[in-house]
Amino acid sequence: MLKEIHEQPEVIKATQKNYLQEFFNDFESKFKNLILNKKIIFVGCGTAYHACLVGEYYFNKYTNIDTSSELASELRYKKINKDEKILFIFISQSGETMDTLMALKYIKKNKHSSIVITNSLQSSMVREADVTIPTYADKEVGVASTKAFTCQILSLANLSIEIGKMTNSISKKDYNKNLAILKLLPIKLKKLIINFTPEAKKIAKKLSQSDTCYFIGRNIVYPIALEGSLKLKEISYMHSEGFPGGEMKHGPIALIDKKSLTICLSPNNELYEKSISNAEEIAARNGKVIILSSVKIQIKSLNTHNVSLPKENFIDTPFIYTIPLQLISYYFALNEGTDIDQPRNLAKSVTVE
Ligand code: M6R
Repeated sequence: MLKEIHEQPEVIKATQKNYLQEFFNDFESKFKNLILNKKIIFVGCGTAYHACLVGEYYFNKYTNIDTSSELASELRYKKINKDEKILFIFISQSGETMDTLMALKYIKKNKHSSIVITNSLQSSMVREADVTIPTYADKEVGVASTKAFTCQILSLANLSIEIGKMTNSISKKDYNKNLAILKLLPIKLKKLIINFTPEAKKIAKKLSQSDTCYFIGRNIVYPIALEGSLKLKEISYMHSEGFPGGEMKHGPIALIDKKSLTICLSPNNELYEKSISNAEEIAARNGKVIILSSVKIQIKSLNTHNVSLPKENFIDTPFIYTIPLQLISYYFALNEGTDIDQPRNLAKSVTVE
């Protein structure tokens, strides 16, 4: 897993290079008919589902298309409106996950169109879908998905700005600006991995004094909070939950006590103040808090600790907040002595219902 975490700058570079020079060239002729006048539903399981949720935020920002996400195992048993034109975008590292594959077959039966974003070009989903968007994460061996996830969100970032440009919902200037940010991402992430590793080891030690770990985030880092929590559960077996920050007051804040640690994802955006006030509410109830933010914060409470992350833009935010959480989970699991690459009860590809 550590190797695959460290490979992310390289595979992101390879994926982006391919998209720019080949795959997304001639975007209109490849995608126009498939996309226009349709609602989009993203579908996946586990980490791939978290990528779906990130996709929703990207599409909401850069396009005017209505999108939503479905867990594949739920979609399979729902009624789908046959009259509405829907494009389903399936996300799967393996392209073989049974729930996702069956959901793809199900929507095909209902005559809807499909794209699959996958890391496995020889897979069953590729054979079923109308169009495939490859990720170039190379083979992912660790059960806990890391580099496949960041390549999936890179794919969605590109798709959303390409559609935005095609439909004039973003300007040419913004499109170019975002592409330039994505091009610089590998260098930024390489530095982040190096700089954050000592912090991840310190946070891993703090975690061992807690019974449970919560992850909170708003907007595009809400799915990252879910993903951070999934990573921690999967490889360390520690109890963990991810919440949207705004939901804490509607119930989950009752869980907070001095044996809990909350990792609060607070990028420098319009929700920053609200996110910090969530952190303060948790600290006021004796919960330990770690704030990950690109803003240097003046901390008032003793049980709150701030760790600086690089300055982010909207489009690179999910990458910058994902990698630190992967490293924290990895070093905590290492201290716990679990089998990180082959955690108990889990398989790399879930080919049963
Ligand atoms: O191969 P897929 O992307 O379809 O797999 C989906 C999930 O089973 C997978 O992401 C799982 O949640 C990972 N173990 C998460 O780290």
